Amino acid sequence: METKKKIMLTGDRPTGRLHIGHYVGSLRQRVEIQNSGEYDEIFVMLADAQALTDNFDDPEKVRESVMQCAIDYLSIGIDPEKTNIFIQSEVPQLHELTVYYMNLVTVARVQRNPTVKNEIKLRNFEANIPVGFFTYPISQASDITAFKATIVPVGEDQEPMLEQCREIVRKFNYTYGKDVLVEPEIYLPPNKACLRLPGTDGQAKMSKSLGNTIYLSDPEDVLKKKVMSMFTDPNHLRVEDPGSLEGNTVFTYLDAFCSDEDFDKYLPEYKNLDELKAHYQRGGLGDVKVKKFLFKVLNDFLAPIREKRAYYEAHPEEVIEAITKGTMAARAKAEETLRDVKEAMKIDYFEKWEKDYGVRYDK
Ligand code: TRP
Repeated sequence: METKKKIMLTGDRPTGRLHIGHYVGSLRQRVEIQNSGEYDEIFVMLADAQALTDNFDDPEKVRESVMQCAIDYLSIGIDPEKTNIFIQSEVPQLHELTVYYMNLVTVARVQRNPTVKNEIKLRNFEANIPVGFFTYPISQASDITAFKATIVPVGEDQEPMLEQCREIVRKFNYTYGKDVLVEPEIYLPPNKACLRLPGTDGQAKMSKSLGNTIYLSDPEDVLKKKVMSMFTDPNHLRVEDPGSLEGNTVFTYLDAFCSDEDFDKYLPEYKNLDELKAHYQRGGLGDVKVKKFLFKVLNDFLAPIREKRAYYEAHPEEVIEAITKGTMAARAKAEETLRDVKEAMKIDYFEKWEKDYGVRYDK
């Protein structure tokens, strides 16, 4: 038997620049998968059509963010020779699949989707939910299945989307009697800190409107200001006091970003993060010292990304070339799947007539 191909697909809503929460939550895993050499096909999607489902009145923002996110991708090590970066709205096959999948999902099922529920509340949509927004989980199932993706690296908030997608796959394959579509698996980050990086103010999520976000594109001085004013333990008033790690954002960020080498380099009096944490909890370690360390760790991480970003900002034609190539590859792959889907659904009229009656069908 032929072994199943390993295919990765994932994407982001282009509604702004990407931040370090995106990085540890998903971007880092994508680069690892890309560089592992174990995957047959890799796709990363700029989900502009999905971004428009709740930003339809601000198309300029979405358009601008498509370019900014693509630059972020290239700057963190997504390599267009290995990964197809593409624009969702430029692959019309995805929208066609969505129409057919809509038959397989009930309104009640989408209403039960916890991510959708939560987002409706966040956006105050309540009674005025745009239909396009409401159905985006179905469109997301098209994004994933069009590429026959086996693995989808995303944040844990996307698990309900993956579950919904797997249900659609099962229902499709069951209804149309063929193993046309493939059930995807989620790929989560390795530790709890990375699963959901809090905002610099300690709030659960980074968001532009809260101003608690560190962007991959932040310059050094901005980064320093943000780190030095981060939320720690509000009861840790004097250096001698014992400090708490619970909900202490600075330590959460260190969990996500620092390595033992960073200690060698910047804080050789500690071997590793465990020793630093122990000292903090004992008392006698001030927040400023920990923050300065975190700043250096993050700055070392962001410096090469900034440099690459500056390069791509000066060479937009290279970014455009990467997106063009990726979009063409995405169209070809999605078209293949759409053919299989239409055949299974018995709506492959011309192909069938050609086969049965020899009437030539020029595509
Ligand atoms: N919903 C995802 C997010 O908000 C973006 C997205 C759209 C996506 N289509 C996708 C992610 C397909 C993975 C696979 O981050």
